[in-house]
Amino acid sequence: MASVTGLEGVIAAETELSLVDGQNGNLVYRGYEAKELALHKSFEETAYLLWYGSLPSQETLNEFKAQWVAGRTLPATLESVLDLLPNESDMMSILRTAISVLGTGDNTQSAWPPSDKAIIAYTALLPTIIAYKYRQSRGLSPIAPHTDLDHVANYLYMLTGEIPQPSHVKVLTAYFILAMEHGMNASTFAGRVVLSTQSDLASALCASIGAMKGPLHGGAPSEVLHMLDEIGSKDRAEEYLRNQLASGKRLMGFGHRIYKTNDPRAEALRRIMTELSSEDPWFELAVHVEKTAVDLLAVYKPGRNLYVNVEFYAAAVMRAIELPPHLFTASFTASRMVGWTAHLLEQASCNRIFRPQSTYIGELPVSLRQS
Ligand code: CMC
Repeated sequence: MASVTGLEGVIAAETELSLVDGQNGNLVYRGYEAKELALHKSFEETAYLLWYGSLPSQETLNEFKAQWVAGRTLPATLESVLDLLPNESDMMSILRTAISVLGTGDNTQSAWPPSDKAIIAYTALLPTIIAYKYRQSRGLSPIAPHTDLDHVANYLYMLTGEIPQPSHVKVLTAYFILAMEHGMNASTFAGRVVLSTQSDLASALCASIGAMKGPLHGGAPSEVLHMLDEIGSKDRAEEYLRNQLASGKRLMGFGHRIYKTNDPRAEALRRIMTELSSEDPWFELAVHVEKTAVDLLAVYKPGRNLYVNVEFYAAAVMRAIELPPHLFTASFTASRMVGWTAHLLEQASCNRIFRPQSTYIGELPVSLRQS
């Protein structure tokens, strides 16, 4: 049922991109279960599926990957602007600024409707921007993109300068694919609203990044890590979580507007992480905290159906591969760029400006009051 606050239950668009089935806990990308794609396909193949509607042949995939590799190099203007931004800026503000810079000066990339060329270029470049600024903030020289590595492996390579372990690439690829697209979430909606005015790609993506930054959306994983660090050991979990709930605080990594059962993305990541780190005490703690939290949420918030969401196990994935916590939301963004841009292409293909209404609940002038 539709609700005025938060547009709950309101259908804002028809989409062929994804089905988010919150009652049964399923996530489908263009006819494929996302959890299967996460295990068996590459990031680029899944991006192709979302943008073009089918999985690519090997030949098409090779050509497609070449476009990504070509898009990874930082343009000189952007590099100069990144150098001017304070190293202590948070990475989401850096990304918002970087996309804004990319949207200046080049008519091809700012034209309506957005082109395939532009969306591949923006998506391919995002990890380079993150890695460049991350290394600069630590006083390290930038690492040039590696032309032989796929998108996800190259991201890890540009952060560390080392060829990443295959297990790290596998788990981050799975997370990136699972986080790539998720229906009409706040950041996707924000981007579609901006594009619906026939504004440009960069403006729409800046809106999406701004929405993604908030702790109720993409900012949750680092807060999950903080919570798990504060809990520290299994024997402290119940008391800590009870105190949080009793004082009216939210448990980060739990609850979802759509999922009223387990988030399938969290389940898939838990399974993958179990293979990778079943013996790791920190991962054991995470699994214990999940179980304890779900039991307590049923007591403190009866009837709300609050379960674990993707951000909880995203934190576990990113910690396992030793990604610094302040890069968590930016990494989520690097993957969600695909979903956002797929939605922008879809919006452009059947555009009508978004223009909802509001109910006025303020005072009327005397002249307009009915007696
Ligand atoms: N911990 C404790 N209580 C909660 C939580 C939580 N994580 N989430 C919802 N509730 C309670 C909330 O207090 C409210 O209780 P009451 O009716 O007594 O006031 C009830 O459940 C409904 O909450 P709501 O805010 O109306 O639910 P929503 O659908 O607007 O919010 C949400 C969805 C994800 C913002 C929310 O569950 C939340 O804040 N979770 C924690 C932050 C988080 O993990 N965010 C990542 C979401 S997954 C990534 C994505 O897809 O964006």
